Amino acid sequence: MAMARKFFVGGNWKCNGTTEDVKKIVATLNAGDVPSTDVVEVVVSPPYVFLPLVQSSLKPNFQVAAQNCWVKKGGAFTGEISAEMLVNLGIPWVIIGHSERRALLKESNEFVGDKVAYALAQGLKVIACVGETLEERESGSTMDVVAAQTKAIADRVTSWENIVLAYEPVWAIGTGKVATPAQAQEVHNELRKWFQANVSSEVASTIRIIYGGSVSGANCKELAAQPDLDGFLVGGASLKAEFIDIIKSAEVKKNA
Ligand code: 13P
Repeated sequence: MAMARKFFVGGNWKCNGTTEDVKKIVATLNAGDVPSTDVVEVVVSPPYVFLPLVQSSLKPNFQVAAQNCWVKKGGAFTGEISAEMLVNLGIPWVIIGHSERRALLKESNEFVGDKVAYALAQGLKVIACVGETLEERESGSTMDVVAAQTKAIADRVTSWENIVLAYEPVWAIGTGKVATPAQAQEVHNELRKWFQANVSSEVASTIRIIYGGSVSGANCKELAAQPDLDGFLVGGASLKAEFIDIIKSAEVKKNA
């Protein structure tokens, strides 16, 4: 039997919330009746300024992630947060290469790859994001785009053990236009084939590939049932009580 990939649910809060909102979300999570950590790994990602509050108030079955970090050692980089600082605060995870940063902050594949490598080298675990735009999908280049994004990481890291790969089609993010289970499965499966051909069969079978883009309580179960889909990176719905239902979709895998 292939080694089981533990279901992973990330909540990306993006640039949202006040201290009061954050306390409410934490209370909802702490009160949630969720599967055990043997079944699902849950990581929520508040804005930097709320990380210490969230980390100290969440139950230990939930972990936290930063939404970004600087590409190298800290220093004279006004406005940036270094990987070393996250390590110093005991933050275990960081999201790198989110499409909003790729598009709005012009982060290139190479820059994202450099960041992933640096964060891993400091001891952080990384949620690395890839995904195509609508134009890219419609022109038939989805796999070329996500392969190039993944290759820029593969060229710079020696191990994928501490990386979760998030496939987030840009056209599905924040649009309510979720990928169909078949569309998500197809790309996840192609990514595994890419790892098989370009990295190793071990990485192809063990890497967790999670889906992001308009995931909701209503659509999560059908997506979770797809064989190459190992969890979710959730935006809008991670700020709401329905995030608990999305975490519970991990149960679908137990009967798979
Ligand atoms: P939405 O779930 O709001 O579409 O956002 C997805 C996302 O970008 C998670 O990183």
